[in-house]
Amino acid sequence: MININENYLKLENSYLFSTIAKKIEEYQENNPKTEIIKLGIGDVTLPIVPTVVNAVKTAMDEMGDVDKLMGYGPEQGYDFLRERIAKIDYEKKGINVTLDEIFVSDGSKSDTGNIGDIFSIANTVAITDPIYPVYLDTNIMAGRKIVYMPSTSENNFVPDLPEEKADMIYLCSPNNPTGEVLKKEELKVWVDYALENKSIILFDGAYESFITEDNIPHSIYEIERAKEVAIEFRSFSKTAGFTGLRCAYTVVPKELKAYTKSGKKVSINSLWNRRQTTKFNGVPYIIQKGAEAIYSDKGQKEIKDNISYYLENARIIREGLANAGYTVFGGINAPYIWLKVPDNLGSWEFFDKLLHEKGIVGTPGSGFGPNGEGYFRLTAFASRKNTIEAINRIKS
Ligand code: MLT
Repeated sequence: MININENYLKLENSYLFSTIAKKIEEYQENNPKTEIIKLGIGDVTLPIVPTVVNAVKTAMDEMGDVDKLMGYGPEQGYDFLRERIAKIDYEKKGINVTLDEIFVSDGSKSDTGNIGDIFSIANTVAITDPIYPVYLDTNIMAGRKIVYMPSTSENNFVPDLPEEKADMIYLCSPNNPTGEVLKKEELKVWVDYALENKSIILFDGAYESFITEDNIPHSIYEIERAKEVAIEFRSFSKTAGFTGLRCAYTVVPKELKAYTKSGKKVSINSLWNRRQTTKFNGVPYIIQKGAEAIYSDKGQKEIKDNISYYLENARIIREGLANAGYTVFGGINAPYIWLKVPDNLGSWEFFDKLLHEKGIVGTPGSGFGPNGEGYFRLTAFASRKNTIEAINRIKS
């Protein structure tokens, strides 16, 4: 008799964004005339920038040429892309990351989920609450013990250290879903905790390019000794509109060690390399060529213009809602605006109300964890026209 992994039975019936997609579909079927404005899943709407389009096309032409065809590539990513990442994302900011510490992948969703493969299921996992559901769901799938660290307006979205010792700690800054950020001194508390407790920090920096304020770390490695305790995830999805192209990278420092049960130190970098070379065949050459192109001067300018566009949407939402009397957070260093649901409604009740009365889709805070109840997330990724229209509809 074949048995299942019963941990899957402990999960919610469906993944948050799949549930929402289904609700939208049902509503649209019954209300075909309503023009729904989607501020739900954080998916980009501006086209891929010309520099990337051209690079991908040129790479595709190479693939059609017998002399230039690229077959299987290195599972860790091509050096041409890893060199750009090391130089521009790190070296220029005073951080030393070597090529063999960079693993190019198809997304931070996959990497933050898959990283658990190399850690014991006996580890206790600390997760800020509310949070991007992948960290929680993948650890439920694995059967790890999970402790929640509330991150709400009461503690200014700076979670306290866990009461119980945590071995794996997920942090996300700029944060999804709250749109809030950890300052350098706040992040340092976690690095110190991890050093003291021999824990590991899984730092999701997918929204790093949206940071506008000073003293907000762009990388966890800006904190002294963080390379001894942290893995960093970065993504081209929101930075360069790659949600449909799929490309990201994860930095696993050589200094980073974990332990066998008998206390022997093991290199995490080697384990992750072993995992990736076995289970992953790398990101397509043409996509990595596209990612490389964003590091050119022209590419940098183009993607920064797109990020500014989304940040202006965020400002319109934040200020529009605040003027309408809502309590709002985030949206300054992130494409997410986190608002308090009015009139003591539950998060899902507010979701239904907005969809049915205004034709607007957002994401219920409770979908990101128990402490998200009473909150709601809107994204800044719609067109300018739809963003303004959504705020007008809400105000009315
Ligand atoms: C979100 O809306 O939280 C993200 O877009 C989902 C993701 O990146 O997988």
